[in-house]
Amino acid sequence: MTTPRLYSGMQPSADSLQIGNYIGALLNWKALQQTHDAYFSIVDLHALTVAQDPVKLRENTRRTAAQYIASGIDPSASTLYVQSHVAAHAQLAWLLNTITGFGEASRMTQFKDKSARQGSDATTVGLFAYPVLMAADILLYDTEIVPVGEDQRQHVELTRDLAARFNSRFGQTFTVPEVAIVKETAKIYDLQNPTSKMSKSAESHAGVIWLLDEPAVTHKKIMRAVTDADGGVVFDRENKPGVANLLTIYSVLAERSVGSLEDEYAGRGYGDLKKGLAEVVTGTFGPIRARVLELLDDPAELDRLLALNADRAAGVANETLTRAYDRVGL
Ligand code: ADP
Ligand code: NA
Repeated sequence: MTTPRLYSGMQPSADSLQIGNYIGALLNWKALQQTHDAYFSIVDLHALTVAQDPVKLRENTRRTAAQYIASGIDPSASTLYVQSHVAAHAQLAWLLNTITGFGEASRMTQFKDKSARQGSDATTVGLFAYPVLMAADILLYDTEIVPVGEDQRQHVELTRDLAARFNSRFGQTFTVPEVAIVKETAKIYDLQNPTSKMSKSAESHAGVIWLLDEPAVTHKKIMRAVTDADGGVVFDRENKPGVANLLTIYSVLAERSVGSLEDEYAGRGYGDLKKGLAEVVTGTFGPIRARVLELLDDPAELDRLLALNADRAAGVANETLTRAYDRVGL
């Protein structure tokens, strides 16, 4: 019996991940690595689709790797590697570019949104081809399952179309993956703006809790979180989004039901809820932060782990690439 192959990744787009990345992605990954042959990538090639400072990009890539590991992604139970360390990603992407319709790529809603925001002069061909690179990421590993949020569904659908098209044109080459929309265990919102998603790329960082924030900073951010004038500790996403968000974070990190938190804090006000939450958050991320700093303190060991994992990934990826090259006549 073989364990199903799974692929997922995140961009090294900031020097720290935020707690939404941890709750929405890393916690799931940590569980999935037990039951799957999992490939977790730090997708630095994808990050290049918008302008990056070279020194920061390299640094953020290593910091993201350290945060994956410190959050429980085990580099011996899964394959945790940096995308650019495996050349096959860019190589297969080119082949796939040649079978992707211009119109087909133009229909990707994420591209349409991003390019409309940036304007066409700031928008690169790389950003346009981003979903094709993502297809290469997935297909290189004969991935069966791609756990993604709803926002990535269209890209995985494109991946399926490209795999099927290639197979029918050139003969069976790629595994057609399943789109497994993993229901985000929880969606986390910005503490200052609790109707918009907490994000690494938020314009203001006042409402973003970073994994690597110092405990005192986390505490302050939580105490200043936007709530409402009602005063009741009740989960009501629509009318009390700030409180609902605090309860969600609390519930996931403390592994307690929202109901039991509502009971505990009934009649006690938001100050107490926030204090309790701050303890839970700093309690969770204190040890993670310490482990990240330890990993970053020993660059040679981190590089050794990443090189080992990249070799493992390349072993699988190069086999697929060779097959695809051969099929098209290269
Ligand atoms: P960001 O907006 O922080 O740059 P990405 O869009 O790159 O995050 O997403 C990386 C991963 O983290 C994805 O799996 C995504 O679903 C998850 N994620 C990001 N933000 C949140 C959030 N606020 N709540 C839950 N999951 C999130
Ligand atoms: Na595994």
